[in-house]
Amino acid sequence: MQKQFAERVRDIEISGIRRIFEAAGADSINLGLGQPDFDTPQHIKDAAIKAIQEGKTGYTNNTGIPELRTALCEKFKRENRLSYHPDQLIVTAGASEALHIVMQALIDKGDKVLCPDPGFVSYAALATIAGGIPVSVPLDKNFHLNIEKMKELANGSKLLVLNSPANPTGAIESKESTKAIVEYANDKNITVVSDEVYEHFIYGKKHWSAALFGDDVVTINATSKTYAMTGWRLGYLAADPDVVGECLKVHQYCQACATSISQYAALAAYTGDQKSVIRMRDEYHTRRDLICKGLFDLGISFPIPEGAFYTFVPMKSSITQKIIEKGVIVVPGTAFGVNAPEYTRLSYATSRENIRNALDRIKIAIEE
Ligand SMILES: Cc1ncc(COP(=O)(O)O)c(C=O)c1O
Repeated sequence: MQKQFAERVRDIEISGIRRIFEAAGADSINLGLGQPDFDTPQHIKDAAIKAIQEGKTGYTNNTGIPELRTALCEKFKRENRLSYHPDQLIVTAGASEALHIVMQALIDKGDKVLCPDPGFVSYAALATIAGGIPVSVPLDKNFHLNIEKMKELANGSKLLVLNSPANPTGAIESKESTKAIVEYANDKNITVVSDEVYEHFIYGKKHWSAALFGDDVVTINATSKTYAMTGWRLGYLAADPDVVGECLKVHQYCQACATSISQYAALAAYTGDQKSVIRMRDEYHTRRDLICKGLFDLGISFPIPEGAFYTFVPMKSSITQKIIEKGVIVVPGTAFGVNAPEYTRLSYATSRENIRNALDRIKIAIEE
């Protein structure tokens, strides 16, 4: 007999990005990755090794070790001008778990969740897993959230996901638009979930945390991108105590706590020297300029990404396919929703040499 799987999971597709990686040849150049190519800074690794040697290997508080939550409150004050109490934080297994528990705690069956489209693949999938209905909010021609369209779609929505700097576009929302989006959403009783994992990778502009502009905002962040720690699985959310209380129930039963060793590593990350973050940001900036110039020289025009480490460029799907066949892994726009099928994401979280070689192959694919 055919096994009956849960409907809310059955209809979700495995991420298109994974499929492309699996199909890639051995000499491929990978511009598909959404993770830093840098190693985790040494002082962070040392803190993890020390935690292991000192036997800090058991369960921790469900919400995370108090020292880390205190350090994160200081980080919020220092970097985001946000005041949180340690009890308003939950340390999670990456930003992914934070997104998951918020959706589980807030969404009832059939609730609408406004997701930027094109946007990070997980938002719509996690909303669906929670029983909700993801609603695609289109972007404008510069890849900013289309506020007018958002307002048209907002009626009766429960959640709105904001992601600045954004994956896959690299766009940054200004202070004015962040304020306008948050104020409108909160006024309509829509909770804003603000995914700020790329906040440190911004080239010339400033990051504005959504929680500066409204009370009903859940801020999500992680060590993953900032400190090149994707594999450590360490993220966090900050919100009002009542929201935290509900999220904690889900976190407690599905995760118990984030990895103890990663929590000590994160403590070193947030309390230690921040020079490595600046170094990585400056290198991404150089690479951004390199890849944008290369693509412009090939006649491709697109808004210059102001943050994260992606370029999102208009490209016929047949050309994207040819580029992949030439051994450059890129991710078609279809992986990020329904609104950008004729676009492609190229990540520059790879060496300058790889970027140059990839551009050579792209040139061949386009001119053939
Ligand atoms: C916008 C965005 N949010 C969240 C995540 C997931 O972060 P983490 O690895 O901390 O779960 C990613 C990963 O690519 C991302 O691009």
